[in-house]
Amino acid sequence: MEIKTRFTQMVGCKLPVVIAPMFLVSNPDMVVAGCESGALGTFPALNIRPVEKLRDWLKEIQSKTQKPYGVNIIVNKSNQHAQKQIEICLEEKVTFFIASLGNPKELIQKAHQIGSKVFCDVINQEQAKKAVDVGADGLIAVCAGAGGHAGNISPFVLIPMLRNMFSLPILASGCVVHGRSLAACLTLGADGVLMGTRFIASKECPVATEYKEAIVNARPEDIVTTYKLDGIAANVINTPYVKKTGTQLSLWERLLFRYPKLRKWIMAQRAWRSMPVLMQSIQKPTWKQLWGAGQSVGLIHSIQSTSEILETLYKEYQETLPG
Ligand SMILES: Cc1cc2nc3c(=O)[nH]c(=O)nc-3n(C[C@H](O)[C@H](O)[C@H](O)COP(=O)(O)O)c2cc1C
Repeated sequence: MEIKTRFTQMVGCKLPVVIAPMFLVSNPDMVVAGCESGALGTFPALNIRPVEKLRDWLKEIQSKTQKPYGVNIIVNKSNQHAQKQIEICLEEKVTFFIASLGNPKELIQKAHQIGSKVFCDVINQEQAKKAVDVGADGLIAVCAGAGGHAGNISPFVLIPMLRNMFSLPILASGCVVHGRSLAACLTLGADGVLMGTRFIASKECPVATEYKEAIVNARPEDIVTTYKLDGIAANVINTPYVKKTGTQLSLWERLLFRYPKLRKWIMAQRAWRSMPVLMQSIQKPTWKQLWGAGQSVGLIHSIQSTSEILETLYKEYQETLPG
């Protein structure tokens, strides 16, 4: 099972597929299963607390797979442990990073000292330009409909637009489940894809069965964009709890949002308040269900193992190719 692209050659995996990092969801089992099935497994460093335990996760992954894997670092100020996370990752020779939500300059500089690559999440051309200017090795085009913090530009526009502007590798993120979508992203100019929502409904994923089943049962129309998690647009399943609490910031929050310092304060407050609900929803859901997912739910019909998901994707991709 192999699909060669610039991305696979750069990072050393067989398939141009990244098991996307997911806050509170990704764990070493998912990373290892992804890597052993030909993809590049990743996880957010923020999933491990206290930060010192990050080394244990890295060692666990290294003991179970020889394949490359990656770590996602939130590089904005909300992540007070970024420095320590980067330090531990570099000591453990992590070769691939995903930078999200902030200025990746410092991470890129440090990662390059040991030859590691940094790809940056971007939702538009301004963010892409900033990432390229500070030395990103690749871009992740986070498109409309993606799970978690999504962009709002269609992949039909964002991927070719970034391809026309930059020569470095681009990964497409958002709504990829079927092999046809992988083929489409490569045709649009991407060198690979990230897949998140699909792997929540995987056997290796540690979340509650209710969450996995909600993904299998949801329709694309059931995905709504909420600003209530942390002030940034995020796609979630429109559960009764989301319907009851709404998706928009209050009027005063929207007013204060215009001022950068107050915006940061509101975002921190929101994140702090939604954290316990998110954690409860993922581990032991009550009626307060706050489940991140993208529009790809419409194409997810069963809970499968990571290897089955990737084998199906590969088969569908092969069937899509002309001739
Ligand atoms: C529940 C959930 C949590 C996520 N957490 C993160 C995160 O911590 N860091 C990050 O860079 N992206 C995060 N994402 C975005 C994914 O990495 C990826 O871009 C997205 O899932 C791709 O879209 P898809 O879900 O349609 O496949 C998250 C996505 C989901 C669904």
